[in-house]
Amino acid sequence: MKNNVDLLVGAQWGDEGKGKVVDLLGGDVDIFVRYQGGANAGHTVIADGEKVVFHLLPSGMLYPGKLCILGNGLVIDPEQFLKEIANLSEKQQDRARLAISPRAHVVMPYHKILDQAQEKARGKGRKIGTTGRGIGPCYVDKYSRCGLRIEDLLDADVLRDRLTPLLEEKNQILTRLYGEKPLPFDEVYEPARQWGKTLAPYVDDVAALLRRAVDDGQHVLLEGAQAALLDIDHGTYPYVTSSSTSAAGAFTGTGLSPHDLNRVIAVAKAYTTRVGEGPMPTEDLTEAGETLRRNGGEFGATTGRPRRCGWLDLVGLKYSMALNGADTIALTKLDVLTGIGPIKVCVAYEYEGERLDRFPVSTRVLEAVKPIYETLPGWSDDIAGCRTIDSLPQAAQDYVRYIEKELNVPVGLIAVGADRDQAINCGLLRS
Ligand code: IMP
Repeated sequence: MKNNVDLLVGAQWGDEGKGKVVDLLGGDVDIFVRYQGGANAGHTVIADGEKVVFHLLPSGMLYPGKLCILGNGLVIDPEQFLKEIANLSEKQQDRARLAISPRAHVVMPYHKILDQAQEKARGKGRKIGTTGRGIGPCYVDKYSRCGLRIEDLLDADVLRDRLTPLLEEKNQILTRLYGEKPLPFDEVYEPARQWGKTLAPYVDDVAALLRRAVDDGQHVLLEGAQAALLDIDHGTYPYVTSSSTSAAGAFTGTGLSPHDLNRVIAVAKAYTTRVGEGPMPTEDLTEAGETLRRNGGEFGATTGRPRRCGWLDLVGLKYSMALNGADTIALTKLDVLTGIGPIKVCVAYEYEGERLDRFPVSTRVLEAVKPIYETLPGWSDDIAGCRTIDSLPQAAQDYVRYIEKELNVPVGLIAVGADRDQAINCGLLRS
């Protein structure tokens, strides 16, 4: 039997509109899974005119009756998790619908303080522009093999034993290196013990559960957070997040294997945005970039920061398609380009007078490149009501075809507005 596992990943620097695509795919999905990152993500879904932003929960929570999983690859901030649960309607809060891996790591209060203190210490020229959600410091503890996992919260004695030396060390770092106040043991331990009690009903061996579900032919959707160019290994290091955001992370973050995959869906915005620091060759600091930000509502869902905006970067996208093994593209926010005039597309970079067709390894090189643009005609007719590709203005159709040809990956879906129904299905959706 053919596997029924779809993997959805961001193809650029995040904020591609993955939440909306997950929501569109959701109708025939049985299980939604988040597998990396944490509450740094901000997945916005607009359903029935209502805007919902998820940071930790899979976007599939909006579908009643479906199972949602937080895999072992995540770093979970229990406070944020419980806040998001509380924001759901009573029906959506059904415990049987949500399972957390006991292997996932816990974002503790000291991780968040450290994240912010480290950013401050890095100063203007060196800061990463993190979301301040404690993501990096939590993954550091995971790989240092001193992190607390969800399972550790479930047993008060184990928690005390593990937390005691850990907090002593963290307090040394907080006070001596960063001039912060130490955290009293009870102020960390007591809430963590409480989290354990509250989370216990959700904790399950989700790797085993997923294995059974996949073997039974259930339709599983693996929901990536952030995006390939923010990948800890393959992204624009050090201006990246601390997890494996490209397709490969889905396996370490769930326990599934590459053989389980049916297809990889890469979500790409029709232009480029980036939040935080780091190179972005096509950033447009003129009126055009401002228009993209205004028309696209480009402000961070997690931090509210204005996103940096610019033209589509095909060099970065080609790299991303190969890295993720993308089978199909979900192209989002095409409507934002309406009325913008001629559309620029970056087809290569110029570096020290030479043409560069490949995404460079070195972030320093990427910082120094100049984009080489081709200009395509724009369109001015409103496309928000279009539901077939043929009904798009010719220039919009040509833009989509151009992207497909350059990337050599078919576009399976085009989003033309924020609402659930504002999309053109070109084969990605089954119905
Ligand atoms: P961190 O993940 O909070 O450590 O932040 C590291 C980098 O990733 C910063 O540039 C953030 O702006 C970026 N980042 C983290 N999460 C997201 C996201 O969901 N969308 C876009 N950028 C993100």
